[in-house]
Amino acid sequence: MGKETDHLWMHFTRMAAYRDGDVPTIVRGEGAYVWDSKGRRYLDGLAGLFTVNVGHGRSELAEAAAKQAHELAYFPLWSYAHPKAIELADRVAGLTPGDLNRVFFTTGGSEAVESAWKLARSYFKKVGQPLRHKVVSRYLAYHGTSLGALSITGVPAFRAEFEPLVPGGIKVPNTNFYRAPEHGDDYEAFGVWAADEIARAIEREGPETVAAVFLEPVQNAGGCFPAPPGYFQRVREICDRYGVLLVSDEVICSWGRLGEYFGAQHYGYQPDIITTAKGMTSGYSPLGAMIASDRLIEPFLADGQMFAHGITFGGHPVSCAVGLANLDIFERENLTAHVREHAPAFRSTLEKLYDLPIVGDVRGEGYFYGIELVKDRGTRETFNAEESEKLIRGFLSTALFEAGLYCRADDRGDPVIQLSPALTCTQEQFDEIEQILRDVLTRASSLL
Ligand SMILES: Cc1ncc(COP(=O)(O)O)c(C=O)c1O
Repeated sequence: MGKETDHLWMHFTRMAAYRDGDVPTIVRGEGAYVWDSKGRRYLDGLAGLFTVNVGHGRSELAEAAAKQAHELAYFPLWSYAHPKAIELADRVAGLTPGDLNRVFFTTGGSEAVESAWKLARSYFKKVGQPLRHKVVSRYLAYHGTSLGALSITGVPAFRAEFEPLVPGGIKVPNTNFYRAPEHGDDYEAFGVWAADEIARAIEREGPETVAAVFLEPVQNAGGCFPAPPGYFQRVREICDRYGVLLVSDEVICSWGRLGEYFGAQHYGYQPDIITTAKGMTSGYSPLGAMIASDRLIEPFLADGQMFAHGITFGGHPVSCAVGLANLDIFERENLTAHVREHAPAFRSTLEKLYDLPIVGDVRGEGYFYGIELVKDRGTRETFNAEESEKLIRGFLSTALFEAGLYCRADDRGDPVIQLSPALTCTQEQFDEIEQILRDVLTRASSLL
């Protein structure tokens, strides 16, 4: 007999690491905390995977799911509808910025991104601009793993083994101001430069071939790159100038993560499409969506036309019921306002860590932060691949978990610790996060 986990293939996991040890197994959650199979408690500093926005253990979400499964467990949205999808689409359309009024449900984020690219391509064919098929996205950005979404993703290590990818994925610089290649002393000028890089890429490719620009409000991979002031407004102008769609990939940044229902509202820009998932149900059941503007659905409403795309479980009745109950919690507990009120305290609590020389940069928005670790704060010198491996996988990932904090130590770019806890967290959890990080990072410094 092998181990209990011998048949489980985990995602993005170096499974050899568990050859001689147990896989951490999480069995229960309550609020901002989870417990493992040995009965140990952890602060869930990542809300599962940027997902459990209302916190764990919400009986009313479990009950909404059970009630719906009893009433109508499943029916597709292929030429038919069911009440919970109708109601949720209506409620979501009421929360989105501007005229993003059409909700195409998926089961997750990659499918939402994939759907948005397919919509952009199909839309332009229908309106007589058939050459428009390329997408512009940012270096290091993560937009999912299906082949289309992976072509939009800019993490070299995730792409290499699956090449050739879908053609037409163009990469531009991200908004990593800490390591700005230009205008490192002027945030606004840096933002102008980074936005103009999108214009230059569109010009290079030929505007008539570019369909869409995909951007996260705050880029996750690389460790929370917020947008400089005016960046999104300038990108919007650029997209309008070249007739290119602006897709706001809010798989993480919607549902209160930045203190508004949608990240675009936090930054005050109007996308043509929003892609979302994760916090839409706070993870109690899988659901994602592509939300499109009135203009984009228009050609598909004509006689004999359709968007030739669908997913069996997209808009699953149980997930839609949970999505509605999740929104009830958001409204009753005023969670977006709660995030706006407490985010400055979260930030300033994390900024106390600046007294540790290994902490280079603390950045983010709302309840979404990245802490970049450096060898030398003065010079911003980063770790080489071997040091980073030793620091991240050899020490931090395990040490943080053993100290009672589940979060992510990541080196898709420079080494960062990522935090994205439940939106219900208050100073008590911010302090707990800071204290655990202080202890573990102090020990990490002594290893270097
Ligand atoms: C911005 C963004 N887009 C897309 C995805 C892919 O979502 P999923 O894992 O649900 O397919 C993610 C996942 O983290 C994401 O952060």
